[in-house]
Amino acid sequence: MVQFSLPKNSRMTTGKTWPKPEGAANVRKFKIYRWNPDDGENPRVDTYFLDMDTCGPMVLDALIKIKNEIDPTLTFRRSCREGICGSCAMNIDGINTLACIYGMDEIKGDVAIYPLPHMPVIKDLIPDLTHFYAQHASIMPWLETKTNRPAKEWKQSIEDRKKLDGLYECVMCASCSTSCPSYWWNGDRYLGPAALLHAYRWIIDSRDEATPERLDQLEDPFKLYRCHTIMNCAKTCPKGLNPAKAISHIKQMMVERSV
Ligand code: SF4
Ligand code: FES
Repeated sequence: MVQFSLPKNSRMTTGKTWPKPEGAANVRKFKIYRWNPDDGENPRVDTYFLDMDTCGPMVLDALIKIKNEIDPTLTFRRSCREGICGSCAMNIDGINTLACIYGMDEIKGDVAIYPLPHMPVIKDLIPDLTHFYAQHASIMPWLETKTNRPAKEWKQSIEDRKKLDGLYECVMCASCSTSCPSYWWNGDRYLGPAALLHAYRWIIDSRDEATPERLDQLEDPFKLYRCHTIMNCAKTCPKGLNPAKAISHIKQMMVERSV
């Protein structure tokens, strides 16, 4: 389990407890991090109660129900509701994951929900991912080619295409990077598991013609080598990917090209 650690603006005040639903037999308690940059208050944890007999099974269902029926000020990101857009990543019951595909039956007791750890918070459950996205852009997440563009398409064998399995599925949710202690302490210079998984996805793509440049760019004491194989990234990834393995492949390529 990835241990929760409070977001950067973390001096807490006592939160509000909302009333229990009347006449409900199957009630569950939710403790949710709240912070509004506009009210001048410190962050707090609010307590809500939901009738589970009238709520969908996923944590995102509960958040939407709270927002629709109890507290419209609760703020969170979501879009696809099926684990594809990556926008609903948050820390649920101590685990960084996607709220839309995390079932409440996986949680014992109260449901604790916080923003992704160690990120600046914009509001409530919404972290500021500006730096995370800039790091992704820095690895050139596109096909780099030097030969002339083919008339129809860049072809790839079935075997080479298979090398992208376990990489292309990443939805850039940031659960892995924000579970990584190396990223917590050195996130300004260490690229983190998500950006490095994407770097490897393009390095290993048989159609790409910029492998030496891509490796040169990563040859840096912080960008790549701050990965200490802690493995939180692989444990927490809601898509079942293994960024640590991708990072180890890059390190191996660095060694092989130096001998
Ligand atoms: S590797 Fe997994 S946890 Fe990391 S950004 Fe991609 S989908 Fe999210
Ligand atoms: S809402 Fe798109 S991944 Fe959860």
